[in-house]
Amino acid sequence: MPAAVLGKTILLIVGGGIAAFKALELVRELRRAGARVLPVLTENGARFVTPLSLAALAGETVRTSLWDLEDEASMGHIQLSRAADLIVVCPATADLMARAAAGQAGDLASTLLLATDTPVLMVPAMNVRMWLHPATQRNIERLRGDGVRIMPPDDGEMACGEHGPGRLPQVPAIMAAIADQFGDRPLAGRHALVTAGPTHEPIDPVRFIGNRSSGKQGFTIAAALAAAGARVTLVAGPVALPTPAGVGRVDVETARQMQAACAAALPADIAVMVAAVADWRAEAADTKLKKDGSGPPPLILIENPDILAGIGHHQRRPALVVGFAAETGDAVAHATAKRVRKGADWIVANDVSGGVFGSDHTHVQLITAAGAEDWGATPKQAVAERLARRIAAHFSETP
Ligand code: C5P
Repeated sequence: MPAAVLGKTILLIVGGGIAAFKALELVRELRRAGARVLPVLTENGARFVTPLSLAALAGETVRTSLWDLEDEASMGHIQLSRAADLIVVCPATADLMARAAAGQAGDLASTLLLATDTPVLMVPAMNVRMWLHPATQRNIERLRGDGVRIMPPDDGEMACGEHGPGRLPQVPAIMAAIADQFGDRPLAGRHALVTAGPTHEPIDPVRFIGNRSSGKQGFTIAAALAAAGARVTLVAGPVALPTPAGVGRVDVETARQMQAACAAALPADIAVMVAAVADWRAEAADTKLKKDGSGPPPLILIENPDILAGIGHHQRRPALVVGFAAETGDAVAHATAKRVRKGADWIVANDVSGGVFGSDHTHVQLITAAGAEDWGATPKQAVAERLARRIAAHFSETP
């Protein structure tokens, strides 16, 4: 792992929180692994660690202000943000994340984050209630959507005595996340759109038509594409799954909302449509349907838009469009026809005759213009990793 950071320059922004002292240990470990560390201390960060200790450990000048003329003369803040191979914010406070999410640039740290296209890794640490607050979660989703990688915090006893998520991860875990940023990232610079989960189509305000899709396959694919370096927009139907690291998520309920979210996510280089979209929606009642003795109400069904076909034939069609097809019977024949009909490049056909929904396992065949490849019975995780590798190979062959 140390080899990954050897010779790299890391701009380390230390925010103001009780966990700031751990940034000192991180500086020591990064330097031990052969990285150059350019430290930036926020005004609040300087209340927890001194510029002197940070400078001594980093062996570099510590920058704290936008208005330091000497620094502007030697290395302006724009250059500073670009001199680095990676920007790490540790600890990333709720306030710093909120300002970065809003694109504010009121101090040196936020200006650096706005003025850069260098990859950013944020390592949050804060009180559990601040972490769980919808405003913080909203900011995190926004930052992820902007391509910022955010490490999930540790769970446990906090400095303030409360319990829950919000603790700074251990330094070795932060080192591993940093090394991961320098790993093999063949899809860096590509934008991938992934749909996952079921859709819920309302019958009335309390009832809906749904299906058994768990979202697991789509979520693992989003994670694998992000790990390969892609910026991922995951449009998710109603599922109870955590957002994978480095993934920007848009939650939707109905097929029409999913279609709108996909259109809004374009342009994309890659689309992987894994969602089990309801083929029909009901003509929904505005008020709850009652058992009033006149028998069951009629359910009038209307065909939903085919999102994959829409993307496959879109004027801003992604360069690579991949669909999934849950099949029983002659999976290859059905999926081959579906590939052409929907304008997809590839279809991953999965045999759902043996209880795939909700399971961690599946049996797939990849259908391309060249024919069918049997990938056998595999864990969904393995399908995700293999598909991400296959997508990366496709782009390395067709730049
Ligand atoms: O036609 P079928 O539902 O089997 O097609 C499955 C593929 O099409 C999946 O990739 C699924 O995400 C996509 N699809 C869609 N919109 C629909 C129906 C299916 O995007 N309305």
